[in-house]
Amino acid sequence: MHCLVTGAAGYIASHTVRELLCRGATRIVAVDSLERGHRRAVEALERMAPGKVRFAQVDVRDRAALAALMREERPESVLHFAALTLVGESVRRPAAYWSCSAGGTASLLEAMREAGTERLVFSSTAATYGIPPSMPITEDTPQRPCNPYGSAKLACETMIAEEAEAARRDGRGFGAILLRYFNVAGCASDGTLGEDHDPETHLVPSALQAALGARPALEIFGTDYPTPDGTCIRDYVHVEDLASAHVDALRALRPRECRAFNVGIGHGFSVREVLDACERAVGRPIPANVAPRREGDPPELRSDPARVMRELGWTPRHRTLAPMVESAWRWMQANPRGYDDR
Ligand code: UFG
Repeated sequence: MHCLVTGAAGYIASHTVRELLCRGATRIVAVDSLERGHRRAVEALERMAPGKVRFAQVDVRDRAALAALMREERPESVLHFAALTLVGESVRRPAAYWSCSAGGTASLLEAMREAGTERLVFSSTAATYGIPPSMPITEDTPQRPCNPYGSAKLACETMIAEEAEAARRDGRGFGAILLRYFNVAGCASDGTLGEDHDPETHLVPSALQAALGARPALEIFGTDYPTPDGTCIRDYVHVEDLASAHVDALRALRPRECRAFNVGIGHGFSVREVLDACERAVGRPIPANVAPRREGDPPELRSDPARVMRELGWTPRHRTLAPMVESAWRWMQANPRGYDDR
């Protein structure tokens, strides 16, 4: 396996590169603008597999640089993660999200065509479903995003599906798999990689930061939702399981096809349940306050993972919160300032 990975210095992508290396990748071209990613994450990957990882500081919107890199390296496949990923920020800066997601994907697709690279795995999101009419969410649930992050990702999905249609008409080999992620948590089991966002807005690291004293308390955004304990429900998948779905996708990619898969474990946990799991991992109560609802949060997002299990043969190793929050806590204790490379 010789892959080019965009956004490789980010949380999910760096864990996926690690999984690719563990499962036999011979070469990884790790592309990242370092606007949000961490050079130190790529350094950890370079140490893990000396000589197999090449880092290139390139913004995916730079089509010429991407095409030159692909012509030189001749990767068999591209895994495209590079994007801005915060729902709240996307509401305040829609054009930035469209530029990075849709602009970046258009640039990448053109560069792939120029260089003759024909296999793509794309990071999509459950945010493309918006507030779904029923649970669980299947791949056929209507996609009606309710924020610019989800809209821009849906535009990327459309663009990629249309490239596959064009390939069918023209007899080219382009094919893609779209992975719609649900909520992701946890860190590499060997402690080499972690989750480090600035600002941190995700539930698990925010709760653990409150445990560490790095923030005064966790804010619980809304306790008046129509759920059993009044807090929002999400489907959490361990980052190592999500990483392995990408390798399964690469193996299942077929020319001239574009298939989409939900990646979640099919079970929902409420914000209070996540907080309880964090308290068990930490071994003490975590300061928490009830706060108003956060704008744009659907009450429940839970996947039906039947298709990804059946068609890609994906099986999550972790189906409980404990291994996710315990690995995240170990990494945070060992790296209280994150990658500390800013
Ligand atoms: N939450 C809190 N307090 C916090 C942070 C989060 O109560 O400090 C709550 C949120 O309101 C939400 C839940 O915890 O109900 C999970 O929130 P996250 O911010 O961790 O994750 P989101 O569900 O908002 O979004 C994540 C990804 C998106 C993706 C989505 C798909 O960040 O990219 O999952 O389910 F689209």
